[in-house]
Amino acid sequence: MKIQLKDALSFIDSNTYNQTFDDVTKAHQALLDKSIPGNEFLGWVEVNAVDEPTLKTIQATAKRLQEAVDVLVVVGIGGSYLGAQAALQALKPYFPKEGVEILFAGHHMSGLYMTELLEYLDNKRYAINVISKSGTTTEPALAFRLLKNHLEARLGEAAKDYIIATTDGSKGALRTLADEQGYESYVVPDDIGGRYSVFSAVGLVPMAVAGIDVEAFIKGAQAGYETYRVPAKDNPAMLYAATRQSLYRLGKKIEMFVHYEPKLHFTAEWWKQLFGESEGKDGQGIFVSSAGFSTDLHSLGQMIQEGEKIFFETVLSIDTPLSNLTIPSDQDNLDGLNYLAGETLDAVNEKAQIATRIAHVDGDVPNLVLSLPTLDAYHYGQLLYFYCFACAISGAASGVNPFDQPGVEAYKVNMFALLGKPGFEKETQAIKARIKK
Ligand code: PA5
Repeated sequence: MKIQLKDALSFIDSNTYNQTFDDVTKAHQALLDKSIPGNEFLGWVEVNAVDEPTLKTIQATAKRLQEAVDVLVVVGIGGSYLGAQAALQALKPYFPKEGVEILFAGHHMSGLYMTELLEYLDNKRYAINVISKSGTTTEPALAFRLLKNHLEARLGEAAKDYIIATTDGSKGALRTLADEQGYESYVVPDDIGGRYSVFSAVGLVPMAVAGIDVEAFIKGAQAGYETYRVPAKDNPAMLYAATRQSLYRLGKKIEMFVHYEPKLHFTAEWWKQLFGESEGKDGQGIFVSSAGFSTDLHSLGQMIQEGEKIFFETVLSIDTPLSNLTIPSDQDNLDGLNYLAGETLDAVNEKAQIATRIAHVDGDVPNLVLSLPTLDAYHYGQLLYFYCFACAISGAASGVNPFDQPGVEAYKVNMFALLGKPGFEKETQAIKARIKK
């Protein structure tokens, strides 16, 4: 995992950078000596949430399901599904020819989606992995209720053999249900928050069922820990944190996660949750956004090139070409593309990347480049760990607690009040009066 900063550092004066790097160094120290704000949520740091026997159990569960079902429906929202979704998209083929199909539910409340999902499942053998640390989040709880009814209507008592719960070890509605019904279950440790949970059973169970090498994924993350824990001027996680925070201090308020490979779309979604929920608090924080180029150069490109100068881009680049598909020659050359005959599509994509970087830097948009040697389970584990580690120290360097998310509750209170949830009577009255006005 390499980081190139030349096209970002040229926008930063040395005082700002040195001061920010000092703040990042302190945050790095605080993360490792566990004095960082939010230090009750550091269970992810040493990548040891899943011990050897649990990993074996996860692999056995995966094998059992691979033999028994066509589809696994993963039910969860936020940190309880995005890591698995990102890894599956990045590491599985675009058009898989075999294996268990992994579908997601409980990450929104679309009635249409659930109707069509249940219809689709009518003709499938399927299992459910319901994931909720609190066990009480409305979106996954509703989706799970619908799916459980559907599965029980078909299998009766035996449905419980096709339900796996990943939740708190002792409390919450889902833990109670899992214990009462005898579901196979995995624990989300108390000291790991949702958006840092991809290296626990939360991420590993769906990944293992999909056939991803979870051991390699974990090893990559552990190698990341060994690298990023060492404080150094060239530590990539510290460099990334210091550079993005310096740019923010200089008025670059929006960071765009940019990739040139559609397989990385959900990696960007996962990254947005990680950094957005970790840093956006106390009236501050880099706004996180993303773009898949060259697709979005045809939509957002104009805004980035010539809009307000508040953006910087962090490009995630893969060093090794993922395909060697070559552009054929054409006798008539009516499309005028023969000048590219013999080139691979990946080589053209790479030129687009270089060309865009030069153009955007000319347009006053600083560019950082993170490059991953290749896209396999080991390097992907290292990549996700890099982001978690960098996020923790970047957030702490900006003065916030990178592990809480108090602002997420506000909409829930209003929603419960509007829905008349028992216990919210006062809020119901108040919100109805506001709506009337
Ligand atoms: O990062 C977080 O903590 C959140 O995004 C949660 O993962 C999300 O709200 C889901 O919560 P839970 O797993 O308790 O259902």
